[in-house]
Amino acid sequence: MSPSILPFFLHFVFTLCLNLPSSSQSRLPVVAPIYKDHTTSQYILPVDLATPPRPTNLLLDLGSLFSWINCYAPNNYTSSTYRNIPCNFTVCGAIDSFACGYCYDLPAGPTCSNNTCEYFPENPYSRTVGLENAVIDVLSLGSTVPSGPPESIPDFIFSCAKPDLLKNFAKGVSGLAAFGYSNESIPFQVSNGLSLPRIFAICLSGSRSPPGPVFLGSAGPYDFPPPGTDLSKGLIYTPILLDPYGDTVITYVRPSAEYFIGVSAIRVNSKNVPLNRTLLKIDPKTGYGGTRLSTIAKYTTLHPSIFKAVTEAFVQESSAMNLTITDPVEPFTICYPAENITATRVGPAVPTIDLVLQSSNVYWRIYGANSMVSVGRRKEYSCLGFVDGGPKARTSIVIGGYQMEDNLLQFDIEAMRLGFSSSVLARGTTCADYKF
Ligand SMILES: *[C@@H]1O[C@H](CO)[C@@H](O)[C@H](O)[C@H]1NC(C)=O
Ligand SMILES: *[C@@H]1O[C@H](CO)[C@@H](O)[C@H](O)[C@H]1NC(C)=O
Ligand SMILES: *[C@@H]1O[C@H](CO)[C@@H](O)[C@H](O)[C@H]1NC(C)=O
Ligand SMILES: *[C@@H]1O[C@H](CO)[C@@H](O)[C@H](O)[C@H]1NC(C)=O
Ligand SMILES: *[C@@H]1O[C@H](CO)[C@@H](O)[C@H](O)[C@H]1NC(C)=O
Ligand SMILES: *[C@@H]1O[C@H](CO)[C@@H](O)[C@H](O)[C@H]1NC(C)=O
Ligand SMILES: *[C@@H]1O[C@H](CO)[C@@H](O)[C@H](O)[C@H]1NC(C)=O
Repeated sequence: MSPSILPFFLHFVFTLCLNLPSSSQSRLPVVAPIYKDHTTSQYILPVDLATPPRPTNLLLDLGSLFSWINCYAPNNYTSSTYRNIPCNFTVCGAIDSFACGYCYDLPAGPTCSNNTCEYFPENPYSRTVGLENAVIDVLSLGSTVPSGPPESIPDFIFSCAKPDLLKNFAKGVSGLAAFGYSNESIPFQVSNGLSLPRIFAICLSGSRSPPGPVFLGSAGPYDFPPPGTDLSKGLIYTPILLDPYGDTVITYVRPSAEYFIGVSAIRVNSKNVPLNRTLLKIDPKTGYGGTRLSTIAKYTTLHPSIFKAVTEAFVQESSAMNLTITDPVEPFTICYPAENITATRVGPAVPTIDLVLQSSNVYWRIYGANSMVSVGRRKEYSCLGFVDGGPKARTSIVIGGYQMEDNLLQFDIEAMRLGFSSSVLARGTTCADYKF
């Protein structure tokens, strides 16, 4: 059943109209909801795919090159508008697919066609990969006006995948929504397809039911209640960095699709934590080190030496605030009795953690709402939500989903900068307050 593969090295310079904005007419941004699955802490983007449109839930991954969907049972991808992509098309080479598929033993369909460009869909948890047909079909998501009709991208490119690639994905999720630095990621395809600027912003909600918004193709405004709260105002900017080496199993020859930022120091209660500076930089020879943003990591993961230094500083600063640690609660090591910590507008009153960026006055401040996780049967413990990534971790600091919730993060690809708000709770709003 697997197609035979011919290596197919593409160095053609065909221009494919799919990726070129056709006009600069101004359009409204596309706003779509992102839900949190509380069993897995995964962030889910609902979209419609195919004709007639079929609702499909996708796992949001800030670091992936292209999206993929299970085309086999129980989905059995069918559509009156799908197309496979001939191997000589530029999009095959654009993601270094280098594979051309043929199919002899099945009826023609999305997963069976000849001379078809193939992609290598990858599970971001297990890092296993598939080899499946690339497909073009209509994608609809979000809307430009509250409660409006969904926006459609007629020539959306994605990859099929087999159901076993969905291992560790939340129930009801049948694929992956790539949001990485790549022309084939969803924000790039939406911007290119609808002639919008390549700027997107996410505001992840941690709360149980209401979703948070993703704004596609717009630098703002991002209006939240109460009236007058435009979260595109007051953002702090830092350059987006790229790792010169992709960390995916197959696409080793191209830069990583992941977004990195240049953390230069960490401060706890405004006091500098001594760190090995080498670990903070991306090693240009290996691609190791540095700081990246990940919606796949539940909590921020630190290199062991950074973890030790930060937790020691945190314990010291918290004891100066009369907080005494209690026994660790897995997977965390620094925990306090919840009743000892007073609540503030920005979460539990604990030492602040600052990720210092390109200069000492540019920093991402992490308050209690994003640093402390409520754990225990009766939520009787409050634990520092940072974990030790182990000595083999490729990236020294991986900022996880929990630390991004109720923060607005603007990925301005045009200017290659990340705009961040720090906790929007300080502005009297939450991501879940957004009115769709
Ligand atoms: C998909 O195909 C499988 C096997 O061919 C079949 O058992 C299943 O019922 C199909 N599902 C749908 C939704 O058609
Ligand atoms: C791809 O090859 C086919 C013939 O095999 C040709 O008709 C078509 O124009 C080519 N497409 C591109 C984009 O070059
Ligand atoms: C692919 O080409 C082979 C050989 O020409 C043919 O037997 C097969 O049916 C084709 N497959 C499809 C899906 O068209
Ligand atoms: C996207 O495509 C354009 C035009 O082909 C190219 O210049 C650019 O480098 C591509 N961007 C990425 C992230 O691959
Ligand atoms: C800092 O980290 C680098 C990279 O892991 C390591 O080679 C070096 O020995 C470390 N320096 C110190 C002083 O621990
Ligand atoms: C900590 O406790 C001591 C003794 O009870 C008290 O004097 C001090 O003000 C407390 N500090 C804080 C920050 O609450
Ligand atoms: C912290 O809570 C414990 C009970 O969990 C209590 O015995 C202790 O007095 C509290 N400490 C402070 C400083 O409030």
